[in-house]
Amino acid sequence: MNLQDYIRDIQDFPKPGIGFKDITPLLISPEATTFCLETLVNSLKNQKIDKVIGVESRGFFFGILLAQKLNAGFIPVRKPKKLPFTTISASYELEYGTDTLEMHVDAIQPGDKILIHDDVLATGGTAKAVCELVEQLGGEIVQMNFLMELSFLNGREKLRDKEIFAALTY
Ligand code: PRP
Ligand code: MG
Repeated sequence: MNLQDYIRDIQDFPKPGIGFKDITPLLISPEATTFCLETLVNSLKNQKIDKVIGVESRGFFFGILLAQKLNAGFIPVRKPKKLPFTTISASYELEYGTDTLEMHVDAIQPGDKILIHDDVLATGGTAKAVCELVEQLGGEIVQMNFLMELSFLNGREKLRDKEIFAALTY
């Protein structure tokens, strides 16, 4: 199966000049979703995972599937003021300004083996902020995986010491 066949290019979304990678054709296909999940799981080479982080919002789709498949817990990392309990936070740069991500303070115990999942690795700002959240609580990042990597944006440069896997690379 070629996963690329299930990613739809939308030009000028959400703003003029931006080419958006739409994953809804993948999500609507049970076969493509299963194949994609297997591809992500197989990239782990039987490494033990205690908890999977899914990054709001598009990281939730496969994040929860990965957690189930790996018999691991699921942790939502969310945009500000969405989580009800005490949170920790990390900020990252946008084109104009900054944004923040939050996680519950009791989500990770020191030494927990963590898999971070998101749909897209672009500039790497989001992924780096999630690493900071995990490290604040003493978690050990086993791998970061993505449905796709936009390699021309050099996100890996922000995540130099991390193991990274992407099911698709553009
Ligand atoms: C998109 C995408 C990744 C992030 C990647 O999320 O889903 O999470 O950007 O970009 P970066 O590597 O440059 O940080 P977005 O913040 O648009 O929100 P969404 O998932 O809720 O749509
Ligand atoms: Mg996102």
